Amino acid sequence: MKPAKITEGVYTLRVNHFNRHLFDSLIPLPDGTSYNAYLVKGAEKTALLDAADPEKAGVLFDYLSGVEKLDYVVCHHAEQDHSGSIPLVLERYPGAKVVTNPKCKELLTAHLHIASDRIIEVKDGETLDLGGKTLEFVYLPWVHWPETMGTWLREDRVLFSCDFLGAHLASGELFSDEQSRYIPMKRYYAEIMMPFRANIKTNLEKLAKYDIAFIAPSHGPVHRDPKAVIGLYHEWAVEGPRNKALIAYVSMHGSTYMLVNRLVSRLQDAGICVEKLNLDHFEEGRVAMAMVDAATIVIGTPTVLTGPHPKAAYAAYLANALRPKAKYLSVIGSFGWGGRAVENLAAMLPNVKAEILPPVMIKGMPGEAEFAKIDELAAAIVSRHAGLPGCGL
Ligand code: FEO
Repeated sequence: MKPAKITEGVYTLRVNHFNRHLFDSLIPLPDGTSYNAYLVKGAEKTALLDAADPEKAGVLFDYLSGVEKLDYVVCHHAEQDHSGSIPLVLERYPGAKVVTNPKCKELLTAHLHIASDRIIEVKDGETLDLGGKTLEFVYLPWVHWPETMGTWLREDRVLFSCDFLGAHLASGELFSDEQSRYIPMKRYYAEIMMPFRANIKTNLEKLAKYDIAFIAPSHGPVHRDPKAVIGLYHEWAVEGPRNKALIAYVSMHGSTYMLVNRLVSRLQDAGICVEKLNLDHFEEGRVAMAMVDAATIVIGTPTVLTGPHPKAAYAAYLANALRPKAKYLSVIGSFGWGGRAVENLAAMLPNVKAEILPPVMIKGMPGEAEFAKIDELAAAIVSRHAGLPGCGL
């Protein structure tokens, strides 16, 4: 494999992993992913920025086959999809030093047993001159781990942003384009970044002073229209929710499904965009994406034994972990002889700072009286959505 040139002396060594289907044994990857290393060649020194998942180390070394000398390996983030093959790189290049921040050094020592005398610590804002190529290190905490940082390459105006602004997308295209990146970026944001919305806002503010020409993330293609990409993150993380309701449901014998359909119909009649996701069919990433900009989340569940259906419980667990910006929550569903599905679900959502709208739990199959309760819930949602911006994509 040949490194692809971004600007003079700056190359991407993108390690595509087309047939990886799951990340962290948790996150579905419908588009695969990539681990992006970058090579920056100055007049005097050469730096490798990040490495690759050790499962694909062979591809990284194929890229490096023409590189005789490496002076630095900048490690932006200790998670193993980027750092895991650094020990192999250090073995191949015995003169190379890892450049990272103190927190990342601690994690590299813990996770990869990298010897401390192979690591140079850098402070936020510190620079490293490669000879006409100046690397400025920019701490970007919590996008994704506390030690995450980026690098600003001054002369070429390239921001190496690590996980931030990336996408789980294996692709042969060097640069992203508006159409092909939107869904993978939104999915990535939903699954990885959404819990850190407050940190994203702070980090976007920190990056505002840079006149960026290229954003080179650690996953997915390079962006050459940084304003548009940063605008997406601003919309998802900083702006308020949209006129959209997510109804995530599971139904065993059809009663919950009847309630869901009534609610969807009433909300759509009132002009609210509805994402109706049957948890039998839609995987976690799709549900997470729908949570990004919905103002209301309703979980539909039958009662299993005495609690919610496990798939509904998982949706609640997901919402609690991802902390979406929804302002309103509710539960609808059915039971045969009793149960505590609503109480159990509500107890699972302490992190979602939303108003709980009156739940509708009914016994057996709904009739007109039960549909009337759904209509009341729909009316409550509609009144609260007044004035919210349209649902977008
Ligand atoms: Fe792509 Fe947080 O590692």
